[in-house]
Amino acid sequence: MIIDKLRLDGKFGIVTGASRGLGRSMAIGLAEAGADLAIISRGLPDLMEVAKEIEKIGRKVLPINADISNLKQANDMVDKVVTEFGKIDILVNNAGTTIRMKVEDFTEEAWDKVMAVNLKGAFFCAQAVGKVMIKQMSGKIINTASLLSAIGVPNAVAYAATKGGIAQITKCMAVEWAKYNINVNAIAPGYFRTPLTKPLQDDPIRSSQILSRIPMQRWGDPDDLKGIVVFLASEASNYVTGQIIFVDGGWMAG
Ligand SMILES: NC(=O)c1ccc[n+]([C@@H]2O[C@H](COP(=O)([O-])OP(=O)(O)OC[C@H]3O[C@@H](n4cnc5c(N)ncnc54)[C@H](OP(=O)(O)O)[C@@H]3O)[C@@H](O)[C@H]2O)c1
Repeated sequence: MIIDKLRLDGKFGIVTGASRGLGRSMAIGLAEAGADLAIISRGLPDLMEVAKEIEKIGRKVLPINADISNLKQANDMVDKVVTEFGKIDILVNNAGTTIRMKVEDFTEEAWDKVMAVNLKGAFFCAQAVGKVMIKQMSGKIINTASLLSAIGVPNAVAYAATKGGIAQITKCMAVEWAKYNINVNAIAPGYFRTPLTKPLQDDPIRSSQILSRIPMQRWGDPDDLKGIVVFLASEASNYVTGQIIFVDGGWMAG
């Protein structure tokens, strides 16, 4: 039965950036579908709250404090998960950040910060988990792209560069790792209400410009990602790889 293929009972996953926003909702969605999870962020208090929510669902949870832009911390985090769980079936490579500045004002420091988390951090997390999955000959990697993998908007040049890069990393990994039975896809969210987009939500002009471009006439709710993340983490998506799936209320269709 197809509905059984969507279940994640007995699966072990990692969700980076799970302490709030999209990562929190995707982690809860995976747990609701049956997965046990390691959840990652730099700040512990919010992460522990998410851990409690996952425990209430009845799943095992391992909260880990790590900065994924630091290669050693990212590798240590993956080692810890393997030691604890014995395998990794799912990686939701979600931790991300942005710094808003005009192109002409963008500084080297700001550029490096955004690259370090969104591109380098995400790549090396996937590489570390991928090595485990290659040995297992199975796995599901779900990267977090963006509308800005495909389009440009003001004040987001470094962020857009990283998300364009994530789309390409997703395709390269998918092609190289298909023979190991590893699916690599990316979810590309449109505009979602999270702490990351708070400055845009609070800017009446930018906020109404954004809303006017969304055919569904609303911002995304983080829970809108639960369905797609469960699908991509599950056996129901076994023949889907290398895809950048926009979840954007119709923006890219307009
Ligand atoms: N919200 C949107 O509309 C939207 C649209 C498209 C794509 N996205 C992407 O979706 C992802 C999540 O975004 P969001 O809106 O949920 O952002 P958010 O609310 O700011 O949450 C970001 C999460 O990432 C963690 N994080 C940030 N830097 C980290 C690091 N160096 N190491 C470990 N964890 C780190 C944060 O926790 P700590 O700060 O405690 O570490 C937090 O848990 C990002 O990749 C973002 O680019 C978001």
